[in-house]
Amino acid sequence: MDAFEAIHERRSVRRFKPDPVTREDIMQIVDAANWAPSAMNRQPWEFIAVSGEYLQKMGQSFKTVIEPHLKEWDDKPDDGSSLSREGFLQFAANYGNAPVVLVVLTKAEGEPRLHTADLESASAAMENLLLAATALGLGTCWMTGPLLDSEYLRRLLAIPDDKTIVALTPLGYPAVVPKAPKRFDPELTQKIRWVGNLPEFGGVKPDGA
Ligand SMILES: Cc1cc2nc3c(=O)[nH]c(=O)nc-3n(C[C@H](O)[C@H](O)[C@H](O)COP(=O)(O)O)c2cc1C
Repeated sequence: MDAFEAIHERRSVRRFKPDPVTREDIMQIVDAANWAPSAMNRQPWEFIAVSGEYLQKMGQSFKTVIEPHLKEWDDKPDDGSSLSREGFLQFAANYGNAPVVLVVLTKAEGEPRLHTADLESASAAMENLLLAATALGLGTCWMTGPLLDSEYLRRLLAIPDDKTIVALTPLGYPAVVPKAPKRFDPELTQKIRWVGNLPEFGGVKPDGA
């Protein structure tokens, strides 16, 4: 699978088969994450692979924490690309039955600009991780909802104070691949502005210049 295929085929998967994921696959995926670009080459990321009873505990706790928040959601039926409230609650309870959850951490220390740069770098690692998993036929879902439960996650996974949780993702073979949510402006008539005078780009000066 080439890079463009992986980019287009990656979906946020929320239901997984119980089939195990190999340690080699996890290492290959984390290696791809480790090759992300990083501000000042700080490579400020770390990963935790959670499985078994620890994953079950994470799910039970996330379900309890997320339940009151879900009451604020419109209870739309599952439309093939996003889950109903009940469907999301089931997903939360065991991370969609995924055999593994990968947690991405970054450094928590440093002045705010440095911390922002570290979060950005760790997000680049996260995206590499998702794309590598897609290339191996595995499903993922970038999740920050569980950060509502960070105190519990920190205790359960022994995450020290000098680390911030950036995001986590379940990892496993998809049981259901959701429909791709429509992209806003898929023809890219609004999302890009061309500034400059190369004729092949059809560029113009920005207003007021
Ligand atoms: C920063 C970030 C946080 C997200 N948090 C969650 C989450 O907590 N739970 C969830 O189910 N999906 C979460 N998602 C996934 C988005 O819902 C999903 O990417 C979006 O609906 C587009 O669908 P696609 O990933 O299949 O293209 C998150 C995505 C990003 C980038």
